[in-house]
Amino acid sequence: MKDFWNQRYAEEAYAYGSEPNAFFKAQLDQRTPGRLLLPAEGEGRNAVYAALQGWEVVAFDQSESGKQKALKLAAKAGVSLSYLVEDALAVNFEPNFDLIFYGFFHTPPNVLQPIYTHLNSFLKPGGTILLEGFSKRNLGRGSGGPQNEAMLFSTESISSLFDDCTALEVWEEETMLNEGPYHQGSACLIRSIGVK
Ligand SMILES: C[S@@+](CC[C@H](N)C(=O)[O-])C[C@H]1O[C@@H](n2cnc3c(N)ncnc32)[C@H](O)[C@@H]1O
Repeated sequence: MKDFWNQRYAEEAYAYGSEPNAFFKAQLDQRTPGRLLLPAEGEGRNAVYAALQGWEVVAFDQSESGKQKALKLAAKAGVSLSYLVEDALAVNFEPNFDLIFYGFFHTPPNVLQPIYTHLNSFLKPGGTILLEGFSKRNLGRGSGGPQNEAMLFSTESISSLFDDCTALEVWEEETMLNEGPYHQGSACLIRSIGVK
């Protein structure tokens, strides 16, 4: 899969655009800046926006070409990013993040829970988890995301990923995506907000 992402990000266009994801932006804009972890951050659209708002951003992704695109976007915006090229199960941080945003971080089902449990452990108590990804109902729509039902989300699967949260909302939402060439059109998404 790493080769797939390196190839996608080697294209000139930003695969999901260079503007932040709309749900992430709306949430971020209501919060006081702190330490933000962006797993599987790809080409840096969310990291750059957050850094511009004064967040202390740490991003990572397995893709080296994703990092190159992210650093280019950051340089254009005049911000610097902490961006690691790492696998999600190999990264390690102090548990001091105020916020983690999981943006379209779909994985094979056998590693989903281990990855999310590992990454959730880097959130400080009282910190917030945000998630957006494609619902199983998005299969076949052509608006983006994995075309393998086992890698798509449901409200039940995401609720169980975050069962250590004291306050958790998980819902399904219909929307129109307009994020670069690979997220376009009518989409059924799962969104979540939780507090550890
Ligand atoms: C659909 S892209 C989303 C990128 C970004 N979050 C965004 O919304 O613009 C999914 C990303 O997950 C990354 N990824 C998948 N599995 C990973 C893993 N095990 N460790 C690190 N990154 C991973 C891919 O390299 C890819 O950049």
